[in-house]
Amino acid sequence: MFCLNINQNLIRKFENTIDTLNPDKSRIPINILGYGEISLVFEFQDNPSIAYKRLPIFESIQQVKRHVKAYRLYNEILSRLDIPVPSYDAYWLKPHYNGPICLYCAQQKIDPNSIGNKIIHVATNEEVRIFILLILQKLAKIWFYNNQKHTRLKIGIDGQISNWSIIGYNANDPKITLKSELSYLDTSTPLFRINGVDAMEPVLFLRSAPTYLRFVLKALFLEDVVGRYYDLRLVIIDLIANFFKEQRKDIIPVIIKVVNDFLAQNPLLNVKPLSYREIKSYYDEDKQIWIIFQNARRLDRWILTKLFRKRYHFYLPGKITR
Ligand SMILES: Nc1ncnc2c1ncn2[C@@H]1O[C@H](COP(=O)(O)OP(=O)(O)O)[C@@H](O)[C@H]1O
Ligand SMILES: [Mg+2]
Repeated sequence: MFCLNINQNLIRKFENTIDTLNPDKSRIPINILGYGEISLVFEFQDNPSIAYKRLPIFESIQQVKRHVKAYRLYNEILSRLDIPVPSYDAYWLKPHYNGPICLYCAQQKIDPNSIGNKIIHVATNEEVRIFILLILQKLAKIWFYNNQKHTRLKIGIDGQISNWSIIGYNANDPKITLKSELSYLDTSTPLFRINGVDAMEPVLFLRSAPTYLRFVLKALFLEDVVGRYYDLRLVIIDLIANFFKEQRKDIIPVIIKVVNDFLAQNPLLNVKPLSYREIKSYYDEDKQIWIIFQNARRLDRWILTKLFRKRYHFYLPGKITR
């Protein structure tokens, strides 16, 4: 599915003149579409039908090529499991300034109103309930596959609400029914393992962490951070815990009910029921880790840019309400 018309010239110009502190004030005008905890997603004002995700994290050509291959394969794997993904492509370059190789993962731009983190603020509780059920059905496809005895391929996924969109959702006439179809957006973090080997180099997850923290993070957390995407129960807990961050904790009990009913109806998934308490304590711990991480990155940026007058390669979002 490579039908995107990406503009390589524009990407090169953008990357070579980017203002990493304020990317939306760079020489080439962009609109920021979103960011995950560690990345920037934007569109070029001159080419607004494509969403670009910028990953300035690669140390060698071999490393970026491996990632692109994994990205393409992950998109294919999900499509084959009946989890639709937007059309996609990728382009990477070594910037003129002295910095890491930068990968741009491109995707057909999706209407922001149709993405989960927007939807849950406008949909009715019943519709959010259906939305969660639709996500669970997609997740189940992955774990029915993973749970087969002889598969060398294990697939992981980040089930967060902001990674799903509803195809054909119309903000003027919003409706979510059991017939609605979802698509999954977050494919630039390819989560799959072949014979136990991660397709995406796990250290890349840490690339945006301050250098002095990487060593510690790697020793303490890396396995857990990556491993939780391969554990259905943790993926679901993470999805629900999101509703605290999105300021919709009111609806969490409803969601826990739909999840537990679903798990009871699908005993082959072999996942124990969830409780509000464990989700709350997961959230509290996760929140602490991210706050520490974000503050450490801000300090790192300050040291690099203000003390050493060097370039900081990443974009750090402002304060995130949690
Ligand atoms: N194709 C797209 N069209 C429009 N917005 C997008 C698209 N892909 C991502 N976004 C926005 O950017 C956010 C982060 O993208 P995502 O791929 O989930 O990256 P991350 O791995 O950093 O979470 C999404 O939650 C969404 O708001
Ligand atoms: Mg995401």
